[in-house]
Amino acid sequence: MIRIIVATDENLLIGNPNGYYGMPWHNDEDLKHFKKTTLHNTILMGSKTFQTIGKALSERKTIVVSKKGVSYPDVEVVSSLEEILESFKQSGKDIYVCGGASIYKQALPWCDEILLSRIPGHHEGNIYFPKEFQYYFTLVKRIPYETFTLEIYHRN
Ligand SMILES: NC(=O)c1ccc[n+]([C@@H]2O[C@H](COP(=O)([O-])OP(=O)(O)OC[C@H]3O[C@@H](n4cnc5c(N)ncnc54)[C@H](OP(=O)(O)O)[C@@H]3O)[C@@H](O)[C@H]2O)c1
Repeated sequence: MIRIIVATDENLLIGNPNGYYGMPWHNDEDLKHFKKTTLHNTILMGSKTFQTIGKALSERKTIVVSKKGVSYPDVEVVSSLEEILESFKQSGKDIYVCGGASIYKQALPWCDEILLSRIPGHHEGNIYFPKEFQYYFTLVKRIPYETFTLEIYHRN
């Protein structure tokens, strides 16, 4: 299954280029949820998001999308987002698409499920999750955590 995992505020904001790791907030509980969900799985991200993290995340297979022919330790770099998503679609294997904005937008048509951590409030930033997801996905479950709500969406 191809899943998007993302944290947004109430306006679908996901990023602030000047903020901590580019994120407009720091939410430990959501970081723990991200780790627990993605552990021992394959994660995929764009090169800019990877650069903000700076290294492969432990106990996960990390795939980075870049057209620049770069290489990083413990990371598989691929130049075609379509090809990698098509291969996971065909195999039925799980992959978690972890951003950033450009990757979320392009991966949306391939995605079966969205795990959206809704961080309360309106934060500062200018990078958003694609709003059009709401036309193609239905909210199937809301799981309250102490500091955010996990919203699970399935493709219509
Ligand atoms: N809130 C959240 O859950 C969350 C999660 C992740 C990221 N973010 C935020 O999102 C922001 C980054 O998003 P972004 O859109 O600027 O960058 P990004 O999506 O992380 O990375 C963009 C880069 O990915 C590569 N790329 C994109 N599409 C490609 C394709 N079709 N084929 C091959 N390579 C492709 C290109 O790398 P090259 O230039 O190397 O070719 C491009 O410059 C940051 O602020 C980050 O903090 C938020």
